[in-house]
Parts: sequence; structure tokens; C-alpha cells
Amino acid sequence: MAILVTGGAGYIGSHTCVELLEKEEELVVVDNFSNSKPEVLEKIKEITHKNFKFYEADLLDKEKIEKIFKENQINEVIHFAGLKAVGESVQKPIEYYHNNVTGTLILLEVMKKYKCKKIVFSSSATVYGAPKTVPIKEDFPLSTTNPYGSTKLMIEQILKDVYVADNEFSIILLRYFNPIGAHESGKLGEDPNGIPNNLMPYIARVAKGQYSELKVFGNDYNTIDGTGVRDYIHVVDLSLGHVKAIEKVRKDKGVEVYNLGTGKGVSVLELVKTFEKVNNVKVNYKIVGRRPGDIDICYADPTKAENELGWKATRTIEDMCRDTWKFINQ
Ligand code: NAD
Ligand code: WQD
Repeated sequence: MAILVTGGAGYIGSHTCVELLEKEEELVVVDNFSNSKPEVLEKIKEITHKNFKFYEADLLDKEKIEKIFKENQINEVIHFAGLKAVGESVQKPIEYYHNNVTGTLILLEVMKKYKCKKIVFSSSATVYGAPKTVPIKEDFPLSTTNPYGSTKLMIEQILKDVYVADNEFSIILLRYFNPIGAHESGKLGEDPNGIPNNLMPYIARVAKGQYSELKVFGNDYNTIDGTGVRDYIHVVDLSLGHVKAIEKVRKDKGVEVYNLGTGKGVSVLELVKTFEKVNNVKVNYKIVGRRPGDIDICYADPTKAENELGWKATRTIEDMCRDTWKFINQ
């Protein structure tokens, strides 16, 4: 009886594998390494001193996915695998819809065939579009502004429809806010290929001297210091949310949605200052124009996850900055 982790070599997937292995769960991991490296699998084993089965396969390859279900008794699936760069999704919409939506449909077809009816899906706060108020609750209106976000919204809808057709399914949609940080061992973290799109990896590279300065996208938002405010959540806290979600899908049938965030908003400049202070480094920055599509403020109301999953983020912004720096210098 194993949990299948799709995209388990990726940033959030790898940290979640660690937490699940620490809980003595049996894992089968699948990844096509389109945005990750095989070394990550060794790091997971080094940290946990535990082993797991791995398949190098693409979700679009139905035969290979079937083979996984044939060779293992998969009881639950945690579905991380997907392409995630917002800007790239605007340039390559077909690739994004195909990889994310078709990949999920193939996974669901195979799950159905093998009577595996428990799934935890990686959704995103991006499905809230530009929220009218904060903190954001799960029942806020949904909308998207780019193909990446649309894939998340479509997959949420597909999963809701799957439950309507078959009430034996247990489905949890986890809407992540802004995951940052790294494993405290320094062995796992986020190190994107090419120029990072996201704030934290960029800050880390400026601090390291790889880039001369951070471009802060706008200081004229209606926020504490004019820069964008987000709900940054430590990747280990986020991973622990999946451990709780697995407990819940084992217990209850239905479709549930949970925000995974801290409930606290932090501005770009607050994050920069905290990174400098905690790590005793300089992060040069320059204010530039707003990035198209960005919103001013986004943070979660995480009380539903606290009440129903018994999960709450405990790690601080300081922890997130310290652990990122440790990983980058490993
Ligand atoms: P990641 O890119 O590090 O991990 C995704 C993994 O999936 C990678 O290892 C990649 O190689 C693999 N993958 C992609 N397409 C595949 C396919 N067709 N078949 C097999 N493997 C495939 O990303 P992450 O940050 O760990 O994100 C994990 C999930 O969480 C994604 O679905 C992402 O959209 C979602 N999410 C991420 C964030 C974030 O800011 N990191 C926020 C909200 C939601
Ligand atoms: C955070 C803040 C920027 C880079 C994205 C996706 C979202 C989710 C998480 C997957 C904003 C500012 C950034 C830089 C900056 N991913 N910034 N200079 O945009 O909140 O969310 O990642 O689901 O869908 O949209 O995260 O880290 O890109 O930006 O000033 O070089 O930092 O304007 O205020 P974002 P981010």
C-alpha cells in the first residue's frame, strides 16, 4: 500500500517526500525531470535514511503510468507534477494545457481503472485572481489571468466533476500561497534553471553576487511600504500540510478545498530587509515599474485548514530566509 507522489523530485514534492518518509509512509515517486534533477532523490534518502521506488516517466505516457499502478498497490496520489511558470505559460499555452490538464486526465483515467480514489492536488492561490478583500477564504470568487492559472482552475473543476460522478472519491484541493525556504539540512531547496521568476530565489542570487541587484516591481501599491504583499509560507510547513491532507483523504470521502498559507502578509521590502538581517548580507535593489498581472495584496485565511486538518504554519519569515541561504551556500 503506497502513496504515489507525482512530481516528487520537484521543489515542494521533494520536501513532502521527506515528511511522508519520516512518518513511515511507503512511497512511489514519478517524475520526468523536466524541472528537477535526479540528485534530489538521493538527497531525500540521505535526509531520511529511507528508501522508495522511483519511476522516470511522463504523465502524458499512459502506458508507463499504468505500469506504475500495475506494479504497486497505490492507495493515494499526491499530484504535484505540472509546469508552473506564469510568464512561460502565456508564451506556451498549448504546452501548459497539455502537460497540466491532459497529464491530470491520464492520471485520473489510470486511477479509476485501478480503483484508486484518493487524491491530493496542488492548486494555487492564483485561482483567486485579484481578490477584492483579504484575507482570502476558500469560498471567494475564482478567476484567472494566465494559462497556468487556468490549468489549475480547470483541474479543480475536473476533480469536482469526478466526485459528482463517483461519490467514492476523496479529493483535496490545496491552494498554496507563496512557498519559499528550504529544508533545514540545507540539502533540498529551490534552485530554478535560468533567471528566476519568483522573488525569493532572485533575492538569494543577488545576495550571492550572481546578479547585481533585485528589481522591485513597483512601490506605488496601496500597501505598508508601497511594494507588493504576499503570504510567504515555509516549504516544510507546506509539506506538513500534505501529511495532514493524506490523513483526511483516508478518513473522509468528498471534495474539500484548503488554503495553505500563514495568514500574514509580508511586503517585498520587508522580505529583503529580513533576508539581509538574518543572514548578515546585502541585497541591492532598485525600484522599477510594476510587473504586468501582479496584484497588490494577497494573503490567506488559513483557519479552515487549521480547524479541519489540524494544520497550522509555524515557521517564521526569519526561518524561511535562513534556510534559503543555507541551501544556496551548500
Ligand atoms: P517544480 O517544478 O519544482 O516541481 C514539479 C515537478 O513535476 C518537477 O520535478 C517536474 O519535473 C515534474 N513534472 C512536470 N510535468 C511532468 C509530467 N508531465 N510528468 C512527470 N513529471 C512532471 O514545482 P513546485 O514548486 O514543486 O510545484 C509543485 C506543484 O505545486 C505544481 O503543480 C505547481 O503548479 C504547484 N504550485 C506551486 C507553487 C510555487 O510557487 N512553487 C505555488 C502554487 C502551486
Ligand atoms: C512576489 C512579489 C512581485 C520578483 C507567483 C505565481 C503564483 C504562485 C506563486 C504558482 C510580487 C515581487 C518578484 C522580482 C519583485 N505560483 N517581485 N521582483 O507573483 O505572488 O506568485 O508564484 O502557483 O501563481 O503567480 O510570486 O515570487 O513572483 O512575486 O519585486 O524579481 O515579489 O511583484 O509582489 P507571485 P513572486
